[in-house]
Amino acid sequence: MDQDTLVVDSSFIQPIQHRPKLYPFQPATDQVPTIDLSISPSRTTQHLVSEIASACQNWGFFQVINHGVSLETLARFEKAAKLFFDQTMEEKRKVKRDAGNAVGFYDGENTKNVRDWKEVFDFLVKDGTFFPASHDPNDTKLKVLFNHWPEYPPGFREMCEEYARELELLAHKLLRLILLSLGLSGADGLKGYFNDEQMSLMRLNRYPPCPSPDLVLGVGRHKDSGALTILAQDAVGGLQVRRKSDGQWIPVKPIPNAYIVNIGDVVQVWSNDKYESVEHRVVVNSEKERYSFPFFFFPAHHMMVKPLEEVVDEQNPPKYREYNFGKFIASRSHGNENQEVENIQIH
Ligand code: SIN
Ligand code: FE2
Repeated sequence: MDQDTLVVDSSFIQPIQHRPKLYPFQPATDQVPTIDLSISPSRTTQHLVSEIASACQNWGFFQVINHGVSLETLARFEKAAKLFFDQTMEEKRKVKRDAGNAVGFYDGENTKNVRDWKEVFDFLVKDGTFFPASHDPNDTKLKVLFNHWPEYPPGFREMCEEYARELELLAHKLLRLILLSLGLSGADGLKGYFNDEQMSLMRLNRYPPCPSPDLVLGVGRHKDSGALTILAQDAVGGLQVRRKSDGQWIPVKPIPNAYIVNIGDVVQVWSNDKYESVEHRVVVNSEKERYSFPFFFFPAHHMMVKPLEEVVDEQNPPKYREYNFGKFIASRSHGNENQEVENIQIH
């Protein structure tokens, strides 16, 4: 390509085979399923669980409505997030995420060695409270590394915590349904994974408008390494999911106040590949900024992850060796781009 024609820095440019096909615009003919989480006499838990089972098997992704998260809390949180990102870079960098730290503001993260077109603010939550810790792979005890919070907008931390508490409840509700769908009687067998050392990551993403949306990605293709991801997206759209049947990229339609749920590597391993962690990416556009808020539901960092006893037997032997979740995720977030759950498969 002629360097003179480039309007974005070359670090953002995707290899040709991974660039999004934005034109001609084609309305999506297929969609990830939408599941109503409400229960009524005509819609039993059993109905719900079977819808979840087929969505997890066919897509690894689904949207949920009637999820129980307070819409006022969500609206307050979204408004506060926008106020935070609307500040100058100089202000935002006052709460910059440093190397080895899991909390703070940053831009210019790479996925598969190409820079993502996004800005991020991350924080860890434990029992509904901001947790100032690191993902240090050599330190099994959580180390407090980060102790300040953005000063603007006022009440930002409280609004983020209030929101994260709601998301923790939704995550537990979804996990229970997913375990039921795998034939477990509930989450009791998983207590160790979600003990008092468990924490999750709340991420706030802003994707600025981009002059060359056909060359870059907001987030390059990847799979999520936690148990579940629960994402709120605004009306702009941009998330695309790799359809399992044919590998096509399918846009996930924004539905007001719905959440997008996807299976992460941990559930793939627990389910011994009955459910797969599916690749996804984010495309950007030249006109509108986009916001999205993923909540990454993680098991406790010190836990060893392996196929659940309830899903393996002689006909279906374990496909994975056990691995330490904290070490896995830390090696990934410290630049080991090639860390994939496939690497611990038993061949
Ligand atoms: C992600 O997968 O990291 C972000 C998804 C999104 O912004 O829609
Ligand atoms: Fe993701």
